[in-house]
Amino acid sequence: VFSPSCVLVTGGCGFIGSNFVRWVVEHEPGVRVVVLDALTYAGRLDNIRGVLGERVSFVHGDIRDAELLDRIVPGCDAIVHFAAESHNDNSIADPEPFVSTNVMGTFRLLEAARKYGVRFHHISTDEVYGDLALDDPERFVEERAYRPSSPYSSSKASSDLLVRAWHRTYGVRATISNCSNNYGPYQHVEKFIPRQVTNILDGVRPKLYGDGRNVRDWIHTQDHSSAVWTILTRGRLGETYLIGADGERDNITVLRDILRVMGRDEDDFDWVRDRPGHDRRYAIDSSKLRRELGWMPQHTDFESGLRQVVDWYAGHREWWEPVKAATEARYKAQGQ
Ligand code: NAD
Ligand code: DAU
Repeated sequence: VFSPSCVLVTGGCGFIGSNFVRWVVEHEPGVRVVVLDALTYAGRLDNIRGVLGERVSFVHGDIRDAELLDRIVPGCDAIVHFAAESHNDNSIADPEPFVSTNVMGTFRLLEAARKYGVRFHHISTDEVYGDLALDDPERFVEERAYRPSSPYSSSKASSDLLVRAWHRTYGVRATISNCSNNYGPYQHVEKFIPRQVTNILDGVRPKLYGDGRNVRDWIHTQDHSSAVWTILTRGRLGETYLIGADGERDNITVLRDILRVMGRDEDDFDWVRDRPGHDRRYAIDSSKLRRELGWMPQHTDFESGLRQVVDWYAGHREWWEPVKAATEARYKAQGQ
């Protein structure tokens, strides 16, 4: 068992990273956290304001800045690497920052991990495997061949391959996790669930892409956090673990759940232009993680999770209102 005393969390001011930082503060009392975040459009210091202090410090900087990494990496015994450009639609409109941050940024961090002998855990996505047909009886497993579809998922696949190579060639003590779609508080309003919840709160009709039958495998961000900690501390070096909570649902079902929870008519939404190259279905088989490391998801009641998320957005207007109009303007320009 690896027990770090200080963990460098990249992207700790984003959605999943900030939830992970809070999870560590709550569940791992002996551990200090250093958050490294560039505070792009997706990152906000406010997301971790409540836990900043003796145990959690913040460094404003870019993962591509090798000199900065020389200053901060040696002070920690592990890097948990969340920082990324994370949104598929943005990657289709402008792929360059995805290649730069997701590929070059991961490369810089791996070089620092190699130089200072630091344990490295890489956060990745199930999208590296491409998609499944709706009627395919298979789900994604660790050994499946990579077949990413979008600029976002191909940049994440590239970063995973770098991690594998740095482990095998240089012996960097690395693990990788590929997780399915997260939901929970602090998710940017560009993403599907928060976009629709905040549209409804604003009196705007939700927007559904294509035929609405695309399937995503939903997991609560708290369960993602516990899985990452399990793999960081007990995972076998050089291994990949898939993280999922058996949460497959098609988009139209999720949207109707949201409308129902918010007291609206289930047909009160607009169909909009489909995403180019839109992956049909993701589905994760997380047996390896459950069998080898004994991890289990705890937040498996999707409808109650959704209610909490709706309440969170309803109670945190000041968090999302400042970025809502610009996000919707970008979508409108794309016919979405
Ligand atoms: P997010 O967009 O909400 O947050 C990304 C964070 O990274 C932001 O705080 C941003 O400021 C920071 N960042 C971006 N570029 C940076 C750079 N060059 N240097 C330093 N910081 C930088 O993303 P998220 O949804 O929380 O995703 C976090 C990670 O989890 C990503 O690696 C993503 O690929 C992966 N992931 C996400 C999901 C999901 O459902 N959202 C599922 C599986 C895996
Ligand atoms: O599978 C893990 C991935 O999940 C992560 O790697 C990504 O970082 C994360 O953004 C997410 O990717 P998706 O593309 O699946 O998530 P998104 O929230 O953008 O969309 C979810 C589904 O909803 C997808 O099928 C597209 C659809 N959609 C999305 C939006 C924003 C709509 O129908 N309408 C919308 O307005």
